[in-house]
Amino acid sequence: MRRLSRRRAGDRTATTDTELEVNGTRHLLRHAPGAVLLELLRDRLGLTGTKLACGNGECGACTVLVDGTPVLACITLAARVRGPVETIEGLAGETARLREAFADAGAFQCGFCTSGQLVHAAALLRAGEVPADDHGLRHQLAGNICRCTGYSAIVQGIRMAGPGEECG
Ligand code: FES
Ligand code: FES
Repeated sequence: MRRLSRRRAGDRTATTDTELEVNGTRHLLRHAPGAVLLELLRDRLGLTGTKLACGNGECGACTVLVDGTPVLACITLAARVRGPVETIEGLAGETARLREAFADAGAFQCGFCTSGQLVHAAALLRAGEVPADDHGLRHQLAGNICRCTGYSAIVQGIRMAGPGEECG
């Protein structure tokens, strides 16, 4: 990860160059020092599967993985990202079973929260860290807010995609 900061006090034209690995591809992006990861993903790389909802780190719609860990891209400074970034587009294969389970469980309606839910769930499944009890799983997903579906269906979808379960 290489960064070349040319920011000076009072210099409104200051930019920062950040090298990011996103979904396995490296990009060198010049941006304002205060740019957040979500801006670069959506506006510069066209990865619009990661959603902007609250923009304040409160809803989880913008969840992506950085070095395998779920982070909120709307409040993560791009220049401070360390490690490979994975978005819902890059996780398309890994989440195929999970997406099918979400559809079968009715775990989305408008779908605006869904990519964040899927990315977070994929991280739990990958790490083998899906809590055995539903209360624990809901607690894990507490940062991913859904305004329309209800969490029972989301929990059910994740269970259906877990090891040893069959979808469809
Ligand atoms: S859009 Fe990032 S947490 Fe809501
Ligand atoms: S499906 Fe609409 S916000 Fe979750």
